[in-house]
This record gives sequence, structure tokens and C-alpha cells, in this order.
Amino acid sequence: MKKIIITLDGFSSCGKSTLAKQLARKLNYVFIDSGAMYRAITLYFMRNHINWNNNDEVQVALKDINLDFDYNDLTGSSDMLLNDENVELLIRDMLVSEHVSEVAANQYVREFGVAQQQKLGTRKGIVMDGRDIGTTVFPNAELKIFVTADPAVRVERRFKEMFEKNPQITIEEVKDNLEMRDYLDSNREFSPLKKAEDAIVLDNSNLTREEQLNIALEWANQKMVG
Ligand code: DC
Repeated sequence: MKKIIITLDGFSSCGKSTLAKQLARKLNYVFIDSGAMYRAITLYFMRNHINWNNNDEVQVALKDINLDFDYNDLTGSSDMLLNDENVELLIRDMLVSEHVSEVAANQYVREFGVAQQQKLGTRKGIVMDGRDIGTTVFPNAELKIFVTADPAVRVERRFKEMFEKNPQITIEEVKDNLEMRDYLDSNREFSPLKKAEDAIVLDNSNLTREEQLNIALEWANQKMVG
């Protein structure tokens, strides 16, 4: 069976990373969470008071950022390292979520992210999730999946996930954040979120995790033997 690149793109909180992790585990592939990279850059900018609307500041700051992944045996996936510091938990914080879409819209941040992601894909055998993976990062990927789910289902799922970490959070806050990120991610000038023409749509609103995994595995198997 040949090794392929699998891309999963879609709106926030539609289950992309869950599916990407499951697929990678089943196929013995490497899972790469490209959103974690934009989140880590956002954390760096916030900590260092970098104005992400000022391109000169952004370009200088990016020179001091080193991103890496470190496999975590306990979770079975990779943690994000920002200049050798494990920031996996910090980058999931609401404060980072509030700004990440603005930071990810910056042209230089995008060039930086895309270049790093392409380097990670040179060996094939990877599953990468994000917004522009099938359109910009790996336009020649063998299997492209565009994941969607009903907005109300996405808010509910995200709320449950966030509530476990922060019981103060309200469903309205989660809904507002998702709507804002969907809008910014889809309407930015540089590589906006959109379905690649050759991507297959997977609507998981009414699917269990196992059902969606089986569908995706079937598609992957067809590409790996083909
Ligand atoms: O997948 P996520 O929610 O962790 O991603 C965080 C943000 O990063 C998301 O709001 C948009 C941005 N992002 C992006 O612009 N391009 C990607 N390939 C992945 C994420």
C-alpha cells in the first residue's frame, strides 16, 4: 500500500482533529494539527506584546519563533512546543481562541505556517487538519476531506469540551467565538477557508465517531491501493 497525504479542512469545532487523530492511529500515520501552530504563534505574540496588524513587527517576531511537536504517550498525540516549551494546554485557552483568527489572517504568519507545514509533509504518511491544507498547503494531496457539521451541533460539542476545563464559560461565549472565527477564517484575504474542488464532503452532524472514522478509512483505503 502506498503512503499518502490526507488533508482535513473545515470550520472550527466540526470534529476535524478527532477524526484526524483516529485516522492517523489506524493507519499508523503522523497526525499534524496545523491550528496548534497558529495558536502557538498567537500565544507568543500576546506574551510579547506584538501588534499583529503591524507587518514589520510580525516579520521580526517570527524570526524568534521555533515550533515543534512532541509525542505524548498519555494522550497518544503530539503536544505543541513553542521555543521548546510545552504549550499544549495554554494554546487551548479562550484568550488565545479570541485572537487566533486575526493572527492567522496575517500574510507573513501564513507564509511562515504554510512553509513549516509543507516541510512536515515531505515524507508522506501524514494526516493534517486545518483550514487551507487541501487548497494551499498540499494541493496535490491524494485524499482531501472537507468536514462539516450543523452549527448548533458544533456549538454544543465545543461547549462540552470547554466546560470541562472552565465551568464559568457560557454557551453564548462559545457560540460568539465560533461565529467570529468562522467569519474571519472564511473571509480573510490570504488562503481563506474553502473547500478544495477535489475534496469530499463529510457531514458528521448525525454520525458517531466510529461511523465517520469508517467512512474516512474506506476513502483512504481506496486511495492507498489506487
Ligand atoms: O483548528 P483550530 O480551531 O485549533 O485553529 C485555530 C485557528 O487557526 C482557526 O480559527 C483558524 C486558524 N487556522 C488557519 O488559519 N489555518 C489552518 N490551517 C489551521 C488553523
